[in-house]
Amino acid sequence: MSQTLQNWKQEINQCDSLKVLEDIRVRLLGKSGEITQMLKTLGTLDTDKRREKGAEINQLKEGILLSLQERHAHLAKQALEDKLVAEAVDVTLPARPERVGTLHPLTRTLEEVTTYFAKAGFSVAEGSDIEDEEHNFNALNIPEHHPARQSIDTFYLNAEKMLLRTHTSPVQIRTMKTTTPPIRILSLGRVYRSESDATHTPMFHQVEGLVIDKDIHMGHLKSTLSDFLRNYFDIVDLPMRFRPSFFPFTEPSTEVDIGCSREGNSLKIGAGNSWLEILGCGMVHPKVLANCGIDPEVYQGFAWGMGMDRIAMLKYGLYDLRAFFESDARWLKHYGFSPFFSAGA
Ligand code: DAH
Repeated sequence: MSQTLQNWKQEINQCDSLKVLEDIRVRLLGKSGEITQMLKTLGTLDTDKRREKGAEINQLKEGILLSLQERHAHLAKQALEDKLVAEAVDVTLPARPERVGTLHPLTRTLEEVTTYFAKAGFSVAEGSDIEDEEHNFNALNIPEHHPARQSIDTFYLNAEKMLLRTHTSPVQIRTMKTTTPPIRILSLGRVYRSESDATHTPMFHQVEGLVIDKDIHMGHLKSTLSDFLRNYFDIVDLPMRFRPSFFPFTEPSTEVDIGCSREGNSLKIGAGNSWLEILGCGMVHPKVLANCGIDPEVYQGFAWGMGMDRIAMLKYGLYDLRAFFESDARWLKHYGFSPFFSAGA
C-alpha cells in the first residue's frame, strides 16, 4: 500500500501542469477513481478487517489530498509568475501621447485671435445670431434702400423683419449703445448669407473689432491691424497694403491686402508679387457714433471685420470651406489640433 502511495505521490510531484494534475485527481479521487473504488470494497469485509483497511485507505487518501494541494499551490504560483513575466509592463518607459479628440481648426483660430487681442486689452463681446434690421442695418448707416442691403442675400425669419445676422457689426452697435467709451472689444461668431460654393457657406464666421476713445486716428488702426496680421501669420515682414474702399459704417474705409505668391497651383503668403484681400476696416462713421449716443465731436474710433474661416484656411492650407462643417471625423482627425495647445504661451 505504501508503495502505491509513493508512486502516486511521485507522479503528482512530477506533474507540471494544472490540467494534468486535475486529471490525476479525478483518476484517484473522482466518483469512479481508484481510491474511491478501494473505499467501496470495504463493505464486503468483516468489522475488524474493515476498521483496519478503512484506516489505511483513509490515510492513503489524506496523503494524496495533501500532495495534490501542495502541488496545486506550487503550480498555480508558477503559472501566475509566468503570466506576470509574459504580460510585464515597463512602467519606466516614457508615456506615448494619445490624443483624446482634436480641436477644430476654427476653434484653434478663435483661440489664437482672442488670445492676441486679449493681450492688447480687448474684451470679448457676445452678440446674438438673430438680429433685427435696426442693429444689422439701420444703425450701421445702411438704410432700407441702400445698395449694400440689396447686395447681401439676407435670411429673413418672419414678417417683423427679424433676420439671421449677415455680419458681426451689429455687436458694435449694441456695445456702443450700452457702454461709455473707452471701448475695446472683439466679437467673434456665426454670420449667415444665402450663398454656397467652395469658398462660401450659408453660415460662416467673422471676427469684428472696435476701438472707441478720444484722439483715435488711422495710425492706430494701421498699427493694430498690421501687428495682428504679422503676428497671426507669423511673418515679421509680411507685405501689406491699405486700399481705399467703401463701407457705409466707416469713413474713410479701407480694405487690407497681404502679399502672396500664386505660382503654379499654390498660394504662398508673405512672398511674391500678388495681393490677397484679408479684411475690411475704417474709422467709425460719425453718423454711426451718433446713432449709438456717442458724441462724434468728442470720440472717434476704428473698426474692422474679417472672415475667421478665411484666415484659418489661409494659415493652415485648407482649400474647401464646406469641409469645415461636414463633421467628417477623418478630416477632423487630420486637420484638428491638440487640445493641449495654449495660444500665445
Ligand atoms: N461688416 C463687413 C462685412 O461683413 C466687414 C467689416 C468691414 C466690418 C469694415 C467692419 C468694418 O467693422 O469696419 O463685410
